[in-house]
Amino acid sequence: MTATVIDGKAFAAKVREQVAVHVTTLKDKHGITPGLAVVLVGEDPASQVYVRSKGKMTVEVGMNSYEHKLDADTSEADLLAVVDKLNKDPAVHGILVQLPLPKHLDSDLVINSIDPAKDVDGFHISNVGLLGTGQKSMVPCTPLGSLMMLRDHLGSLSGLNAVVLGRSNIVGKPMAQLLLNDSCTVTIAHSRTKDLADVVRRADIVVAAVGRPQMVPGDWIKPGATVIDVGINRIDAPDLGEGKTRLVGDVDYASCAEVAGAITPVPGGVGPMTIACLLANTVTACCRANGLAEPEGLTA
Ligand code: GUN
Repeated sequence: MTATVIDGKAFAAKVREQVAVHVTTLKDKHGITPGLAVVLVGEDPASQVYVRSKGKMTVEVGMNSYEHKLDADTSEADLLAVVDKLNKDPAVHGILVQLPLPKHLDSDLVINSIDPAKDVDGFHISNVGLLGTGQKSMVPCTPLGSLMMLRDHLGSLSGLNAVVLGRSNIVGKPMAQLLLNDSCTVTIAHSRTKDLADVVRRADIVVAAVGRPQMVPGDWIKPGATVIDVGINRIDAPDLGEGKTRLVGDVDYASCAEVAGAITPVPGGVGPMTIACLLANTVTACCRANGLAEPEGLTA
């Protein structure tokens, strides 16, 4: 079997188009422009790239983008004051504090200081609790994007065996909750899981989010399974020339694509969906804040 490639880049472009349509309606009918504020502390190069990309796409879909770049040695009190100001600003419908934060800052404290209604990352404990109890919440962007691709490819997920590799608060745990809410039988596997290969072989859906390059080989995959690869790992690629690197996922793409029914590539799979879902969450937050109907198909 050769797997269908799930094109996250094209899917994300469609989601952004839908977001742009809703933004136009909000502006033209209601005189509201959704606004997304991103807070970046320090100079982590990867974070700077993400933040730039988020700002660009926010503007492209017609929303207002507010960037707050703070020095690496910003105090917790000063950061909390920035978040508080954004919480109170009616032009700001979504707030994202870029992670990781410098070590002297308490990420949990900062995230939990964001107004849950503006928490477009879905990381605030209120949103985690709402998702865990199947209530309306803000849903973390990477799991939401992964869910959208799974639903689009498979239709109903009801009754399917899903294995999530990785138990992070950002991806693994919320992904498992979303799959459970869609009536999958869910296993969360992690570094201490015994007989991991056998666990993965039972899965109709594999979501890999461990941050270990190419750790899932094709012979772990059940024939016809759907594989969502959340990993983005940079590895040395001497075949491309001295000192060259390439991006790879958490699954070994070549061998998994031989066995799977469908698979997301890296790059061009889950990655582009994350920012598209951030924009979708901002529109959702804006609609909720203004008592308007939420856009269909852009939430879980
Ligand atoms: N750093 C890497 N991914 C993310 C994300 O999804 N949200 C935030 N806030 N920081 C990140």
